[in-house]
Amino acid sequence: MSIQFHLQDRKALVTGASQGIGRGIAEAFMEFGAEVIACDIKEEGLKDLEKKSIDKGLKCHICTVDVTDRSQVKEMVLEMDDKLGGIDTLASVAGIHNRYNIDEMPDEIWDRMISVNLTSCFNLTKHLLPRMAKRKYGVIIQVASVAGIVGSVTGASHYAAAKGGLIPYIRSLAKEWGSKGIRANCIGPGLIDTEMTQVMQELAVKAYLSGLPLGRIGKPEDIAGAAVYLASDASSYVNGQLLNVCGGYLMA
Ligand SMILES: NC(=O)c1ccc[n+]([C@@H]2O[C@H](COP(=O)([O-])OP(=O)(O)OC[C@H]3O[C@@H](n4cnc5c(N)ncnc54)[C@H](O)[C@@H]3O)[C@@H](O)[C@H]2O)c1
Repeated sequence: MSIQFHLQDRKALVTGASQGIGRGIAEAFMEFGAEVIACDIKEEGLKDLEKKSIDKGLKCHICTVDVTDRSQVKEMVLEMDDKLGGIDTLASVAGIHNRYNIDEMPDEIWDRMISVNLTSCFNLTKHLLPRMAKRKYGVIIQVASVAGIVGSVTGASHYAAAKGGLIPYIRSLAKEWGSKGIRANCIGPGLIDTEMTQVMQELAVKAYLSGLPLGRIGKPEDIAGAAVYLASDASSYVNGQLLNVCGGYLMA
């Protein structure tokens, strides 16, 4: 029996890689042997990741790209795919979060939320899938959220809608492209300690943790572990799934 947990010889594109969960996934992918293309709209974090990775002898390329900018995304995907001889793994992690009651939400806030958190996955996969299919191998991992299942009670209906939309998109992709050697899955994080969640009030965190079986906030490494598993051939029969990594907040 040979169970392959490593990512040796893999070429992975990771968005949202400057910080938080995306950075954790990019670092873990490199540590498990992958060559990583780290993409983010924030250049500073990318440069820091590149320097630290190269110092450790790991392979990291950086691309400062806005995942909502279709021409930038297309150029990055096609250029890096040619340069590295084929991107075989995508971890689509870039995302934003903010809070507005529905009746007070500016239209532009709704549009930007859907664009960054949902449409970005289409922008990326549109160009990647045909290349992966030609090589008959590809892995797509999309970071969604438990909010995409349960909804929001705290002014993040637009966030929940975008995250919820990712799940059937990824499942459609898993159905339509599975026969071409491409697997696609979502990860649904619960509350994870990153810049995104720093704005949460202490009382709200306490209330959340009191009902959580594992009783602690998650770390980016908790999500990275799941991403490494889904990227590796150890999960070669896992397709179209939502893997909730949430300390038991959701059990389904
Ligand atoms: N932290 C949590 O509790 C939690 C829970 C569930 C899901 N998530 C999801 O995990 C992902 C990562 O979140 P995080 O907690 O690490 O947040 P974070 O804010 O620390 O990181 C998000 C990253 O995405 C980048 N980004 C934002 N807009 C972008 C754009 N248009 N183009 C390219 N990059 C862009 C940011 O610059 C940042 O580096 C997000 O999709 C988020 O919705 C987070």
